[in-house]
Amino acid sequence: MYYPDELVEEVRMKNDIVEVISGYVKLQKKGSSHFGLCPFHNEKSPSFSVSQGRQMYYCFGCGAGGNVFTFIMEYENFSFPEAVKHLAQRAGVTLPEAEYNEEARRKESRRAKLLEVNKEAAKYFFYQLRGKNGQAGYQYLKKRKLSEETIHRFGLGFSNMAGDDLTRYLKSKGYEDKLVQEAGLASYDEKYGLHDKFWNRVMFPIQDINGKVIGFGGRVMGDGKPKYLNSPETMIFDKSRNLYGLNFARTAKAGHIILCEGYMDVIAMHQAGFSQAVASLGTSFTAGQANLLGRYTKEVILAYDSDGAGVGAALRAIGILKEAGLTGKVLNLEPYKDPDEFMKNLGQEAFMERIRQAENSFFFELRMLQRDFDLRDPESKTKFHREIARKLCSFTEEVERENYIEAVAEKYHIGFENLRKLVFTYAAQTGMASSAVRPKSGVRKKSGPEENVKKTQRLLLTWLVEEPAIYGKIKKYISPEDFTGDLYKKIAVKFFEDLEAGAFNPAAIISLFTEEEEQREAAGVFNTKIRQPGTRAEQEKALHDILVAVKRNSLAYASSQPGTDILALNRVIEGKKALEELSKTHISLD
Ligand code: CTP
Ligand code: MN
Repeated sequence: MYYPDELVEEVRMKNDIVEVISGYVKLQKKGSSHFGLCPFHNEKSPSFSVSQGRQMYYCFGCGAGGNVFTFIMEYENFSFPEAVKHLAQRAGVTLPEAEYNEEARRKESRRAKLLEVNKEAAKYFFYQLRGKNGQAGYQYLKKRKLSEETIHRFGLGFSNMAGDDLTRYLKSKGYEDKLVQEAGLASYDEKYGLHDKFWNRVMFPIQDINGKVIGFGGRVMGDGKPKYLNSPETMIFDKSRNLYGLNFARTAKAGHIILCEGYMDVIAMHQAGFSQAVASLGTSFTAGQANLLGRYTKEVILAYDSDGAGVGAALRAIGILKEAGLTGKVLNLEPYKDPDEFMKNLGQEAFMERIRQAENSFFFELRMLQRDFDLRDPESKTKFHREIARKLCSFTEEVERENYIEAVAEKYHIGFENLRKLVFTYAAQTGMASSAVRPKSGVRKKSGPEENVKKTQRLLLTWLVEEPAIYGKIKKYISPEDFTGDLYKKIAVKFFEDLEAGAFNPAAIISLFTEEEEQREAAGVFNTKIRQPGTRAEQEKALHDILVAVKRNSLAYASSQPGTDILALNRVIEGKKALEELSKTHISLD
């Protein structure tokens, strides 16, 4: 923790969440909550709610949620201490600088320094592009049909021929060599000393969602190799969690985001009015990026190169999007190679039409699969149909699967019932999907033992949020120690303390976490509605099952820890007793 808990809590209490958020989002009071359009994803009807009582916000659309600090962190892209500072200032609370823990302060200021030196470098490159030395770069961008406005908007620049002029410039500005090196802007070697990483290239500053420069890509002006040089990963540059163009795309409100392969594609598309385009950063698309996109949209349209490599990359991206619960579609750019070329040749209207025709990613996968089979040969054709059936098993929701079976049967002229049978044969063989037992909701479920354990712990916390009265009945069996995940344990420790004291303060619990993702997850616990419709007896049974599962897991966990000392051993024994008793005990909800 950077500041003492009490101080953080004071700052939080002096910043009423409804007041603060009203400064950003138009809110309307409905019942006990305020509602508005979620600023974190694109929506037309309000699912973003702010509760004055709980001092928390939550979006039923995208799952964003937290307390007043989380909101500021997410909206302004501040770190936790930055958010605390910002709100302290707003409320007139003085924060002691010295309370900042030494290590944390060093890190924070290192991050800030790295951002600063990157910004300075971006300015320098930008300035060079306009100067005498940058003529070649400027001409190159003009040749690529970029307008002055576009060059400006993306802050494009130029790194000179000379091998060390940026380094010298930054030195003259007072930045130490080590920092410049750490930012990936220069490297050192015996022969040349400290020299620029980028020279004689047009420069693409890479910005985070808030427009802060976190790295660079530099392109040769012609056919030299490598075509692009990119900044290495640094403390502020995580290539798997940022996307080029997302700082603009996140507010584009097109109802989807277009994912392309290259910087130039993004720029060309924005110039043509498609500011919903983003690209990954010289590495392949990652799950982290998919989750990031998931905050802003539910539908991602792939506009990858139409060559073999592009198709392969698209197929991989489809899988990743699916995992993240996003719908994928694929854009056909034929006969052109990439969006940039397409736009130059056929223009904006034609591109718009291609967006409308974007292919459902499942059909795209099948179409690509088909290329490996000869459909005139019955043997090969049968194999293809089997492959289709196998892929259809991946739809775990029955309605969705049936719909796909129907659509595929029609498209590939396969008898519907035959295909359906084939799918079930596969499902039965692999135990993947079966027609009877299916999760009821259409929401994609993560699975695996780890997830299940986390889920039960989370459910138990949610139960306590909704029915604090049960605390008294379960505390005999369950303690915060039984929560094995770090995040849930931390919540449980504080929450159990609060419950013991008869207080309920979820917003304060969220401040225990300093990372936005953790705050989100913590907020989720306090906002999930677990009450399934059902009789009292059914609900009591559900709660009982959860309690037993949490206890059982905790025991298994404790027993599996190596180097069991007396204390741990005791815990296992006590735990066993508690579990036995719990199994026999009826916990009533009255
Ligand atoms: N890339 C890279 N290093 C390379 C080649 C490519 O990092 N040597 C990354 C860049 O992020 C690039 C993307 O892969 O933007 C796509 O590559 P490519 O299609 O070759 O480049 P374009 O962005 O289309 O650039 P251009 O149109 O100028 O060829
Ligand atoms: Mn290109």
